[in-house]
Amino acid sequence: MAIEERINNIEDLKKLRELFQKELFKEDTPRVRVCCGTACTASGSYKVIDAFTNESAKRGVDLEIVKTGCQGLCQKGPVMKAEPQEIFYQKIKPENVHWLMSYTILGGMPYRQGIYRDNILSEPVPLMTDVPFYKKQMRIALRNNGRIDPHSIHHYIAVGGYAALEKALSSMTPDEVLREVDRANIRGRGGAGFPAGKKWEHCKKAPGKIKFVIANGDEGDPGAFMDRSIMEGDPHSLLEGMILCAYAIGAKYGFIYVRHEYPLAVKNLKIAIKQAEELGILGKNILGTDCNFTIDIREGAGAFVCGESTALVASIEGQRGFPKPRPPRLSEPGGGPWGYPSNLNNIETYACVPVIIEKGADYFLSIGTPGSPGTKVFALTGKVKNTGLVEVPMGITLREIIFDIGGGIIGDKEFKAVQTGGPSGGCIPAKYLDLPVDFDSLTSVGSMMGSGGMVVMDEDNCMVDVAKFFLSFCQSESCGKCPPCRMGTYQMLEILERITSGKGEDGDIENLLKIGKLVLKGSLCGLGQSAPNPVLSTMKYFMEEYEEHIYDKYCRANVCSGMGVFVINQLECFRCGLCKKACAFDAVKEARDRYFIERDYCTKCKACYYACPINAVKIRKQRHIKLEEEFRIPSESVEIIERRAKMTLKDVLESKPLEIVTTTKDCSVREAINIMSERNVGSILVIDENNKLVGIFTERDAVRCLAKNISFEKEAIQNVMSPNPITFNSSTEISAAIAVMSRKKIRHLPVMEGDKIAGMISYRDLVSYLLPEICYMAEDIY
Ligand SMILES: Cc1cc2nc3c(=O)[nH]c(=O)nc-3n(C[C@H](O)[C@H](O)[C@H](O)COP(=O)(O)O)c2cc1C
Ligand code: SF4
Ligand code: SF4
Repeated sequence: MAIEERINNIEDLKKLRELFQKELFKEDTPRVRVCCGTACTASGSYKVIDAFTNESAKRGVDLEIVKTGCQGLCQKGPVMKAEPQEIFYQKIKPENVHWLMSYTILGGMPYRQGIYRDNILSEPVPLMTDVPFYKKQMRIALRNNGRIDPHSIHHYIAVGGYAALEKALSSMTPDEVLREVDRANIRGRGGAGFPAGKKWEHCKKAPGKIKFVIANGDEGDPGAFMDRSIMEGDPHSLLEGMILCAYAIGAKYGFIYVRHEYPLAVKNLKIAIKQAEELGILGKNILGTDCNFTIDIREGAGAFVCGESTALVASIEGQRGFPKPRPPRLSEPGGGPWGYPSNLNNIETYACVPVIIEKGADYFLSIGTPGSPGTKVFALTGKVKNTGLVEVPMGITLREIIFDIGGGIIGDKEFKAVQTGGPSGGCIPAKYLDLPVDFDSLTSVGSMMGSGGMVVMDEDNCMVDVAKFFLSFCQSESCGKCPPCRMGTYQMLEILERITSGKGEDGDIENLLKIGKLVLKGSLCGLGQSAPNPVLSTMKYFMEEYEEHIYDKYCRANVCSGMGVFVINQLECFRCGLCKKACAFDAVKEARDRYFIERDYCTKCKACYYACPINAVKIRKQRHIKLEEEFRIPSESVEIIERRAKMTLKDVLESKPLEIVTTTKDCSVREAINIMSERNVGSILVIDENNKLVGIFTERDAVRCLAKNISFEKEAIQNVMSPNPITFNSSTEISAAIAVMSRKKIRHLPVMEGDKIAGMISYRDLVSYLLPEICYMAEDIY
């Protein structure tokens, strides 16, 4: 058959595939697969392609140039692969092409200059499969990205495309297709993680002849581009997944909802739909069977809320994208566009379906975790060395994604947190780096999988500022229909604005929590129901940064303006005067031998901070400056104290193991004093017959007995002790214990582990553990 003819039976598709497999991607043909995803196109991949075209024509080489979709490593674009050697090249420029032709295409050898290396000093890694970025990845949804030209249905068919459709139409009933998807337990990749099979079944069972299959390609999360890359780089895999769904649930019409800001995705989808229609893979009597299905594209105007299912339906109908209460769900009568039951899935969810049908549910279930089978695509961005698109098996740890695939933090700075789940998600701190990534584990730590945005943050990120950024996104994207979302997010943002500009007040933290919970509970749609998440999760894990902003007027990442006290470190300063030039308020003064900042004039605008070439302008906490200036405690010591104050009472007990000194209730005061003197302790714990702590007797109690003329010999300790003493659990932070001891004016603290006495800690133990300089905190108990 001629390759452009409409295919009228399944056998012909098989024959066509065999033909394409013979004709395309021949093993002995020199070939380059150049990434033409949006990022690589922006960094010049078409100029590289032009250079290859000219160079191969000049040298008379029959070079096959494949313009592929996103290959993932956007950070190092334009990227490409040379075949048959399978050599991966990064940051290719048109001027490299001459040498690439000589070395690799004609010589079969790697051209060192363009080969991937982790850094300038490390060894080059020629083979794509050895590049750390790709090593731990596994591609199901992105299986064809980087392999085929998205404008060519022939390419798609040659690499096995539409084989799942062929299998379904020739050997499976619609129910069998549905059962296979259900058995694979693929959970929706668009956010909530609802099992696709269950959703399909619900829609199939809904009454009515007209049903729609809808693909959600709105992808409004900032920094996310997973769905865009599939629509741009492998649109036929989406079409095939949608046709399989239509076949399974008995739908005849489909929509792909894609935002207007994705012009390349729209263009490539239109081309793919036209090609599939011309070949008889879409439209009436698909592949000569009685399956009919057509797909239309609906372009959205780019509102985040239009990704929400009911708003998306309104937008498809041509209405304003306003969410509606559910039920009815989309899969129920009255729920979908014009009231017809519909199935809505994310682009990535549909793109995985052909693999499930072709290779079987067992194959899919063998990847990932029992609760979240398969792979997930993430858009890895932020402070990570290798930003880009990664597809990994579920269950991989955050550490593997960020450090092994992402190459670690830029400048080898300290990792602080990773935001998953986009603006609806949460920030996960370093202590969870070894968390296996799947739907349930991310939710368990206060974040979510979401559609797959992953923003990495380092020590230079202010977590309050990060929370403000995500909240301001949701606030501006709120459709305004319901008051908790419309006004609550606004009020929360106002508080965050205040906190980050040095005007935070006592009560702000409590108000953020209160309003956040109200917005979560009282909002109509998922946007409002998740908008406070970034604020609440950063408050959960980074509360000390909020407190520093409010009470110390200090931002440890030096991100927020109007914070801290600006000083020049005289030991580092080499007196270039650039800070003085930069200061518009004449706050930087010049003395005979130094520059210094006049605090009364300083507006904390940071001009001097940015101007100093050696970072000699420091932003410090007011409290630290006071300690340094008044008590001559170096700021490094204060920082050590503050770090140690975060440790627990257990740490103190372990560092200084002490015998627990106890006595019984009926012992005399004299006996108790004798024991204290022999053991050289300032207090003794009083226990009952069951070894239960009932009181404490201290030096202070002994003095009180003396003053009141109480008989040391006759009086039982139980009558003069302090009953029911304040105790602390061993996991309590030192700072909390100090605060309570200081406020209650107590010097001896029994530490408990459940009912058991774990040890005794005195104020002096805590002070000597922290550092002698801590004495200033003890002033009020002397
Ligand atoms: C504010 C908001 C925005 C959303 N944006 C998207 C989106 O861009 N893409 C997407 O697939 N799902 C998005 N969702 C989730 C969808 O409502 C829906 O759950 C999803 O498309 C279902 O597909 P899935 O089951 O395959 O994940 C969004 C939800 C909310 C509340
Ligand atoms: S929660 Fe927010 S975005 Fe959703 S309907 Fe209400 S106002 Fe609109
Ligand atoms: S810019 Fe830096 S080095 Fe130059 S005078 Fe100011 S503090 Fe000193």
